Order: sequence, then structure tokens, then C-alpha cells
Amino acid sequence: MPLLAIETSCDDTCAAVVDGPWILSNVISSQAELHAAFGGVVPEVASRHHVELINPVVDEALNRAGVGLADVDGVAVTTRPGLIGALLIGVSSAKAYASAHRKPLIAVDHLLGHLAAAFLEPEPVEPPFLGLIASGGHTLLARVERPDSYELIGSTLDDAAGEAFDKGARLLGLGYPGGPAISRCAADGDAGAFDFPVAMSRDGSLDFSFSGLKTALVYAVRDLGESGVENARADLAASFEAAIVGQLIAKLRTAIRSERPPLVVLGGGVAANRRLRGEAAALCESEGVVLKLLAPELCTDNAAMIGSAAQHLPATAFPDYLGFDAAPR
Ligand code: KG4
Ligand code: ZN
Repeated sequence: MPLLAIETSCDDTCAAVVDGPWILSNVISSQAELHAAFGGVVPEVASRHHVELINPVVDEALNRAGVGLADVDGVAVTTRPGLIGALLIGVSSAKAYASAHRKPLIAVDHLLGHLAAAFLEPEPVEPPFLGLIASGGHTLLARVERPDSYELIGSTLDDAAGEAFDKGARLLGLGYPGGPAISRCAADGDAGAFDFPVAMSRDGSLDFSFSGLKTALVYAVRDLGESGVENARADLAASFEAAIVGQLIAKLRTAIRSERPPLVVLGGGVAANRRLRGEAAALCESEGVVLKLLAPELCTDNAAMIGSAAQHLPATAFPDYLGFDAAPR
């Protein structure tokens, strides 16, 4: 029962064909290079490029899967949360594709999508589990007891972890997207060189905060001056990365100890981070919990995860979905 899935909530134009846990195709057209010139995602630029890219990306997804639009059982699309202009391109395209063949439409929450990436091959897992989603727009801990929903048990009070990486990279002159850039630069650095704050690591709450860390980096960069930053860039990147990962791990540890889940799933773009993956593996091993790490291309935004979530959600028949809207939150 293949589904065509579409995801345009931020700066990646994505389409996939998914059948049960099987990914038949997963096409991602990243706009990162376009946004790099601005040091971050420009919503209006993202929307315009989604308009240009969505049809070729959907065609490519269907071609690679070897199916036609008439062969799919429905169309799944991210309707929230995200950049409203970007979401609207995906939602209106999905309505058009679905209604052309009188197929049903399935509206998917992007964050449920990140969690549902864990239901896909290879090595799919099932609830119950504790999910840590860390991306450019969100950082949260979720109790997942069923495949169609999740309960938020912690979230960020200010910036998201990926946003902290992106802002940090901009301060260090490392380009966009910041996560991979900081990681690469950090590889040659000493994570103990700078003592950046790991916010609220011992307060017992499951909420995150990254804005103080960003401010600490602003001051360090100012105090070092241009040539000082030049000489210490790798150490700054490594220490900054260690502080972000340190907070994610501290909260994950608190959540594991209070929730006692059998399984932990890491998702969202930041879950592609090698340091986080390594520290999470060590933590889960010492706590006696199974850890599910997704392939990096299933951590960052993609449509396969949206197709995965859709299989557990109600489908709306034609033409009832024509009035469906997108929502930023
Ligand atoms: O999930 P995602 O693709 O999009 C959102 O829903 O936001 O996440 C993108 C975020 C960006 O902030 C990017 O810097 C971060 O994930 N990211 C990483 C890595 N790869 C992507 N952060 C740290 N290390 C990485 N390897
Ligand atoms: Zn995302």
C-alpha cells in the first residue's frame, strides 16, 4: 500500500514513496546553499524555491519508486509546524496530487514524523520509547506509547539545539548549516579549552535552554578578537559543540531515570551529530536502555518519515481535505 509523502516545512523540498516500513524512494532537494549566503533560512526565499522544486522532486520520487501517481494509495503531507509559506506549498501541492486521482490525503505533524522515522527499515522499532528530537526548529523529549501520537515531557524554553549550532557557526564564521560545519571544525579542537555553560543540567527539569550558551560564545568571540578567534576556532567549536551535546545528554539522562523506557530514539537534524551519537550510546549502555540511532539522512528533514507517520494516522477522503490548512505551530 504505497503512499506518496511530501515535506516542505523548512528549507528542504522533499518527496518520498513509502510502503509499510519500506522506503521505495526518498528525494531531498536541499536549499542550504541558497540560504548559506544569508547565514540562515530566509522564509520567503524558501517558499519561492519550494514552488520551483516541488513538481520535479515529486516526479523524481515516483520515478525512483517505479510507481505512477495512480498507483499510490494516498498522499501524506506535513501540515504543521514550520514556516507557514513553506508549508503552504507542500499542502497545496499535496491536495492537487491527491485530488487529481481522487486519492485520500493524510495530514502529518512534522515532529511526529521525526519520531516515526524510527518505524522505517532498516531495523524498525515500535513504541513504547522515549524520543529526543533536536532540530533547527525544535528540541524536545517525547513519551511515545502509540505510533500515532506523543506526549511532550520537555522542550526548549528559547532556542532549539540546531539553532544554537547555526548561530554559533555564524559567530565563528563557519557558514550554514551550522551543525555539520561546527562538527567538522571541532574535530581538530579541544572540547575542554573553553568552559561554556551547560544550562540547567542539574535542576531536574526536562526543559532545555540554549540562549545563555550562545551569549557566552558572543562574549568569548568579542574578548578574543579577530586573530584570537582565528587561532582558537577549532577549540571554540569543540567546546561549544560539547556544551550543546552536554545539555542534551544531561536531560536525556534525567528523562531515562524518571521514565525508565525500554528504548530511546534520537531524531531531528542534530541527531546526525557524531559527538551526540557517541555520548548517547555510552549513556544508554550505562543505563541499560536500547538506543535506536537513525541513518543521518533520516535524522534531517525528509518525506519518508512523513509517509511513515501517515500510515498510523486517519486518512481524509476526497474532497473533504480541500479546505485543509497549514499551521506554523
Ligand atoms: O531536522 P532538520 O533537518 O530541520 C528542522 O526541522 O529544523 O534539522 C536541521 C538542523 C540544523 O540546525 C543543522 O545545523 C542541524 O540540524 N544539524 C546538525 C548536524 N546536521 C544537521 N547539528 C549538529 N551536527 C550535525 N552533524
Ligand atoms: Zn525537522
